[in-house]
Amino acid sequence: MKVPSNAPWSSQELDSFFYQPADSFFRGNSGLSLTYDDVTLATLYSEIIPKDANFETRLGPGLYLHLPIVSADMDTVTESRMAIALALNGGLGLIHYNMPPRQQLSEVSRVKNHIHGLIREPIKVHPEQCIGDVLGLIEEKKFSFSTFPVVDKDDTLLGLLPGHCVRPRFAHRGVGEAMIKRDGVLTIRESELGDDPIQRADRFFTEHIGIHKLLVVDAEDHLKGLFTLSDIERISQERLLQTKPARDSKFRLLCGAAVSAPRKADGSIDKDQLLGHVEALVERGLDAVAVSTAHGHTLGVGEAVKAIRHALPDLTIIAGNVTSAAGVEFLAKSGANTVKIGQGPGSICTTRVVAGVGIPQLTALYVCSQAARDHGVTILADGGITKSGDVVKALTLADAVVCGSLLAGCPEAPGQILEINGKFYKQYRGMGSHAAMKAGSAARYGHAREISQKSAAEGVEALKEVSAPADTVLAQLAGGLQSGMGYLGAGNLSELRSKARYTRITPAGLRESAPHDIIEVKTGG
Ligand code: XMP
Repeated sequence: MKVPSNAPWSSQELDSFFYQPADSFFRGNSGLSLTYDDVTLATLYSEIIPKDANFETRLGPGLYLHLPIVSADMDTVTESRMAIALALNGGLGLIHYNMPPRQQLSEVSRVKNHIHGLIREPIKVHPEQCIGDVLGLIEEKKFSFSTFPVVDKDDTLLGLLPGHCVRPRFAHRGVGEAMIKRDGVLTIRESELGDDPIQRADRFFTEHIGIHKLLVVDAEDHLKGLFTLSDIERISQERLLQTKPARDSKFRLLCGAAVSAPRKADGSIDKDQLLGHVEALVERGLDAVAVSTAHGHTLGVGEAVKAIRHALPDLTIIAGNVTSAAGVEFLAKSGANTVKIGQGPGSICTTRVVAGVGIPQLTALYVCSQAARDHGVTILADGGITKSGDVVKALTLADAVVCGSLLAGCPEAPGQILEINGKFYKQYRGMGSHAAMKAGSAARYGHAREISQKSAAEGVEALKEVSAPADTVLAQLAGGLQSGMGYLGAGNLSELRSKARYTRITPAGLRESAPHDIIEVKTGG
């Protein structure tokens, strides 16, 4: 960095000397690897109101996200519920692979077939039941509604039991005699829902005054789900505020899934097994496959990526993980569109402790972003994100972030809620922990399926306090990201990348950066 002359420095000289763009900052700190809390970003002149900042990002040729957040392919983070929540908020979920292949296929189908607001398995009653049975059901399950579709044993729609008939005075009367018969029940065919089912249902409720439930049937009149007026009104309201869902060209939610690089007994990559499964995932509508391993700069991962690219030229391939420019170049040349960057930054990772390997995340992102630009791929900042400020810093170098720990406490994450001393927790474990490797992720860490005493764990088993639903967590991250973009005068992510100016901070600077010297009575969250 050129030192300005002795003459009084202009404002521009002062700022650019102390707060440096990525190239001079990271190159000036070569040999010292930095992570999120080691740096802070300088503010810049801005005409951007945070709420107008646009963080649309492109990961692969046809893969656009409205929110640059991907949920980690971990067995305590992403199955269909989390992937649905991510896509509804504009991001992408990567379904983990610690499950039988058939189950992963159905998890992907669940996401691809999800229609927001459509209750796929509504509570139904049968004509031979009496109203007393229905009252018992409401009492037992604490239902807050009392109108039910009436079906036969094959789920063919027979009628609708209206709430005003579900009263103790009619307890001995039959559902069949109280229900509105099929002819009098308005329904819609699943095939008529079109590209925007919410809008279609909304129009139906406006056109049919006094009707609060819209039943969805197939061509044979089997019940396929129902919309309620209150859900549709709530979703329509939220739509005005929320980021757009991430959808494919057929208006289905986007979904990603992870695979390992499976090996045959002789150690070579089992391409038939790999391709058979990936092709089946694509048939279900998969938008991106992630060849997800702890060390992506390896012959095996390269071969797996090449095989998928050869068989499926248009599929977005995410591959990783790497932390070097050579690793990015290798995966890009193998056929990946997006490369996951991160070795050891994750909250549950012990790779750096166990193997002594890995690079603090910001430096790794800088180095990899240079190679990504040269080789035409995008990068994901994977691991170590603990707050929205980290998302902002990561996105000055990466195209999206991958979050595990921040989402693991959400109700949408797999796993039971545990109560310990009056507090509620969910399990969160590293995919390199012994328990997760036994459940299927050993290959990710280069171990045989049957892990042995010598298979060193590279992750821990932990707990996360139960958090707000994913919608809320993601909204907070998005809000923080918009604030950051507002401070940097960045209207979009490309401007965020080009405008960012960095400076290192000391432990005292870091202390100053968070609430201090107060007794906190309410957290910011
Ligand atoms: P966060 O910090 O969001 O990180 O919890 C999630 C990311 O951590 C990686 N991961 C692991 N890394 N050992 C590791 O070294 C593990 O057991 C492990 N499990 C997950 C992964 O990249 C994930 O997205």
